[in-house]
Amino acid sequence: MFIGQPVTHHRFYGPLKGIGSVMPVQSDVARPEAGAKVTGLIARIKAHEAVIGVIGMGYVGQPLALAAHSRGFHVVGFDVDMDRVAKLNQGHSTIKTIPAERIAALGKDGRFRATSELSELSGPDVLIICVPTPLNKYRDPDLSFVEKTAEAIAKALRPGQLICLESTTFPGTTSEIVKPILETSGLEAGRDFYLAFSPEREDPGNKKFHTESIPKVVGADDDDSRVLAEAVYRALIDNVVPVSSSATAEAVKLTENIFRSVNIALVNELKHVYEPMGVSIWEVIDAAATKPFGFMPFYPGPGLGGHCIPIDPFYLSWKAREYNVPTRFIELAGEINTAEPNHVVQKLVNALAGRQKRAINGARVLLVGLSYKKNVDDLRESPALTIFEILEAQGAKVDYFDTWAPEIPETREHRALKGRKTVAWDPDKFSRDYDAALIVTDHENVNYAALVNSIELVVDSRNATRSVSSNRDRIVLA
Ligand SMILES: NC(=O)c1ccc[n+]([C@@H]2O[C@H](COP(=O)([O-])OP(=O)(O)OC[C@H]3O[C@@H](n4cnc5c(N)ncnc54)[C@H](O)[C@@H]3O)[C@@H](O)[C@H]2O)c1
Repeated sequence: MFIGQPVTHHRFYGPLKGIGSVMPVQSDVARPEAGAKVTGLIARIKAHEAVIGVIGMGYVGQPLALAAHSRGFHVVGFDVDMDRVAKLNQGHSTIKTIPAERIAALGKDGRFRATSELSELSGPDVLIICVPTPLNKYRDPDLSFVEKTAEAIAKALRPGQLICLESTTFPGTTSEIVKPILETSGLEAGRDFYLAFSPEREDPGNKKFHTESIPKVVGADDDDSRVLAEAVYRALIDNVVPVSSSATAEAVKLTENIFRSVNIALVNELKHVYEPMGVSIWEVIDAAATKPFGFMPFYPGPGLGGHCIPIDPFYLSWKAREYNVPTRFIELAGEINTAEPNHVVQKLVNALAGRQKRAINGARVLLVGLSYKKNVDDLRESPALTIFEILEAQGAKVDYFDTWAPEIPETREHRALKGRKTVAWDPDKFSRDYDAALIVTDHENVNYAALVNSIELVVDSRNATRSVSSNRDRIVLA
């Protein structure tokens, strides 16, 4: 290859399998103008001498720090939560899906430490931002965590550092919001420091894919930043997918989550369409999923939950307003999915009235599963909390069983539930204490057959009871 000739395949991986038309990227070797700072940092990355800073040691930051550490880097975890920092430094896991022994092993070789001291942000060669991007009370994007982080970095920024944003956000955040804040330091992006966006695809509790095996999309707005960011992620992740700009990389993440939200809304709607026809949506999806092409199964449920699917689509619809472009699919999917908790409650109300001649007011109900999805300890945006409050507002006496969420923490939307604790697993007691169970989350550590044998009415919003064979007449699919 001649110096200056653009490379049409990825320098580190050759042709990217199954990725199609990703942009051709000029490698640092091919570009004579690649500065000494870039080449120097790439050499440090290749030698695993670069120090990686991860800002925001939560569900995304911790697995990333573990990946960097396991690939031989020195890692500094930054977090404003001093309690979390102390726990990580003591080797304690703060997230149930991350095995305690992995966190315990982190600090043992002296290559990891956590800190709340943001003035130390000038230390690492690379800073990866993994802070929250929620919605505010008007359901508009709340970028305050990202902005505060960028302000803290700007105070400490030094020439040659690479800053990479991973928090999910709308196209333009990196270039229109983060970059100007960082440049208040007097340093210029793409010349003095480097800036990229790489969307997080973490899926806590996923047994098949983990941080290092999930391909990582990387976008930046200048060649040096892109080449550097690719080099960093290539050192951490098995497969890296470069795209032409930070806004494209931001849009990739939102597209993935909007795809899920819209398809979940579709099967939720089909559930309501098929039900009066006596057709089970679950059976339909299982059979349709046998088609080897052109169909991807999504499953109905009690409503969306978690930090991503209920929130991220609205980052795009908010940004689209700036361009006066309607986002009807996003709005419609949101409308259908947010109605599901009420639908599930109505199913329970009808089943109690129809089968037990009992009003919801005064009925004793056991909610089974509170987390937003199975086998995780995350309650953020969980529809179970909404259902809990609707039922209590209607006069039901509600308890819950969930060993993943033994106590309900403080949440902005469901303050009244703070401090409520799981009941112990005791089917004999359940048979005396509850008129109905409502399965909201299908954790694998629940004996659904025992549940159905102990409680006369089990409303199941996840088809968690699909393999229960006895007393099936007690089950109502919601
Ligand atoms: N949780 C997921 O499965 C997931 C998946 C894909 C993408 N994401 C995205 O990743 C981002 C992070 O999500 P998360 O689930 O890891 O959040 P989290 O709440 O678990 O962790 C965020 C951490 O950032 C810390 N923090 C907040 N402000 C800070 C600051 N100014 N400086 C340093 N630390 C700060 C918090 O104390 C917390 O420990 C979000 O944008 C989210 O949408 C999350």
